[in-house]
Amino acid sequence: MKLWSGRFQQDIDRAADALNRSFPFDRRMFREDVEGSIAHVTMLGRCRIIDPGEAERIAAELVRIREDVEAGRLSLESDCEDVHTFVEEELTRRLGDAGRRLHTARSRNDQVATDIRLWTRTQICDIAEMTLTLCDALAELAGDNADAIMPGYTHLQRAQPVSFGHYMCAYAEMLLRDADRLQDCLRRLNISPLGSGALAGTTYETDRHLTAALLGFDAPCENSLDGVSDRDFALELMSALSILMMHISRLSEEMILWASLEFRFVELSDAYSTGSSIMPQKKNPDLCELARGKTGRVYGDLFTLLTVMKGLPLAYNKDMQEDKEALFDAVDTVRGVLCVFPDMLRTMRIRRENMRAAAGAGFINATDCADYLVKKGMPFRTAYKIVGEIVGECTQNGKTLESMSLADYKTHSELFGEDVYEAIRLENCLALRRSYGGPAPENVRAAVERLKGRIHVAAAAFDGEE
Ligand code: ARG
Repeated sequence: MKLWSGRFQQDIDRAADALNRSFPFDRRMFREDVEGSIAHVTMLGRCRIIDPGEAERIAAELVRIREDVEAGRLSLESDCEDVHTFVEEELTRRLGDAGRRLHTARSRNDQVATDIRLWTRTQICDIAEMTLTLCDALAELAGDNADAIMPGYTHLQRAQPVSFGHYMCAYAEMLLRDADRLQDCLRRLNISPLGSGALAGTTYETDRHLTAALLGFDAPCENSLDGVSDRDFALELMSALSILMMHISRLSEEMILWASLEFRFVELSDAYSTGSSIMPQKKNPDLCELARGKTGRVYGDLFTLLTVMKGLPLAYNKDMQEDKEALFDAVDTVRGVLCVFPDMLRTMRIRRENMRAAAGAGFINATDCADYLVKKGMPFRTAYKIVGEIVGECTQNGKTLESMSLADYKTHSELFGEDVYEAIRLENCLALRRSYGGPAPENVRAAVERLKGRIHVAAAAFDGEE
């Protein structure tokens, strides 16, 4: 029998029931549903909408229901319509009429909106913490490799010298922004829809400020229609998660390239690699590829909900029941990836010698060579042209800027002297790139120190949130 069966003369069709039910997935919000109900009934008692003693008994029984589920004494297997029905039916089974009073002055519409917010709030805090752990792993790697010269690329062509540390710091910056976005999302999420009723509030003299405070929300929402129909917080989280996954997919792509025999910049630990069923020599970066692939999945989840919400009239529509699986999937997917990445990075072997060798070919010090002439008084554009010609000549003769003789240099410009070799030495080229945010090892070391402080501040912002 459905809890809304009053006006019906026939039971719901079996297939229709299967399509209608959300319990198979919304039971994940069991804890939040109980928490919301405890706050609601506490308010009903304090406002004397129901007898205060009865409210206390209901709250105490709700706690017992939660304990029973946690201890495995009560199973979340049921043919109930949804998690809200499950809790209310169990309560009524135990308390009779008292249980039937719980739903006074609320609707499943404000109830579900409250539950998802509570659930999402916990997830945001967890994911932010995990994001910062990854950020920390990147900062560690950066500190250890501040002077590991490697080629920086544009168009995937060797361009100018950077260090592996500098590279890792770039990803740490992205993840710090992700954590910041999560914090921003949390701020707008933390408003209570409870007490909005089905759509139009209630005639009882409720205290929505009290339920908001009991649930750790900053305030009750201002408008009951908006309260039950808003899913912005889920969309914002999924947008933030999509961007986070985009960053992880870029890092994954780099790792896939770097782990290849063509690059050999890194070697993933066996614990984070897989083999091939036919090619005995293979060691594949499957987890990076999966992270890259799962990025598409998280984007898909975002688009699922954006599309579900598009054009929905106010207020609650059953379409919105479709919010949960997309949200859960995005959160689960991101958590799965974030569980693996920090240790995968910490345990990977950095082949500094191969990075250095790659940096030695490809004329990534050509800009420095031009700058050398500029420092001797030549206009940059002229120097640029001359060095371009030198590079062309080297390419033809199989030479590098380092192996070209001074006599050959002088055929291009009299300004070249013996000191050109120091000017184009990669260690010097890197050390001199001291502009703020640049890759000089001393810059990177200082950046890592600042990063650690910023990670600490970001983590503190989430402390006490959940
Ligand atoms: N299972 C529903 C959901 O997830 C709960 C709200 C149901 N409200 C209603 N009026 N049918 O959205």
